[in-house]
Amino acid sequence: MAKVIDDIERVLVDEKELDATVRRIASEIDEYYKDSVASGKKLLLLGILKGSVVFMGDLMKHITLPVEIDFMKVSSYGRSAKSSGTVNIILDLFRDDLPQTDILVIEDIIDSGRTLSYLTEYLTLKGAHSVRTCTLLDKPQRREVDFNADHVGIIIPDEFVVGYGLDYAERYRTLPYIGVLKPEIYKS
Ligand code: IMP
Ligand code: MG
Repeated sequence: MAKVIDDIERVLVDEKELDATVRRIASEIDEYYKDSVASGKKLLLLGILKGSVVFMGDLMKHITLPVEIDFMKVSSYGRSAKSSGTVNIILDLFRDDLPQTDILVIEDIIDSGRTLSYLTEYLTLKGAHSVRTCTLLDKPQRREVDFNADHVGIIIPDEFVVGYGLDYAERYRTLPYIGVLKPEIYKS
């Protein structure tokens, strides 16, 4: 049977670097939100399904402040490696305490910037006390809208990556590292 690893060109971010990155972001989050939490606001980690689940699972273990978690699902690339350019909400967030809640959106990767830019505006309009963003990976060369996340893990070149939650056509999410996918996989 074909092995997942045969489709990986090279490892871009290994497990050790992922672990160090997650710990660094967790302490940034602890530091940033400590006063807000002390003043009685809730901190909500809002994972964007499905790519952020591995990152968020590791990240929340290293945050020492009390946090709640929730998820939203938005339209993704599907079977293509190119962005559709539009954002559709597939699973929404429903809470009646948004004015008392600081939302930190957790993403796997920023590419065009459309998903996080749209979600920041959407959640702000819904009435959250604050909306900030956190991404494990960032591909600044691909930006189509002017957007930067508040917490950024690792800046990467313009290559299609998989693993640690990120997929291509629903595959490769279980790899423990971030790998560059062989271009012939998504060009074939
Ligand atoms: P944006 O709205 O263009 O910033 O798209 C962000 C979303 O595109 C991410 O949540 C991923 O689902 C997907 N994406 C972008 N680049 C990659 C990649 O290299 N590998 C896997 N998914 C990607
Ligand atoms: Mg995604």
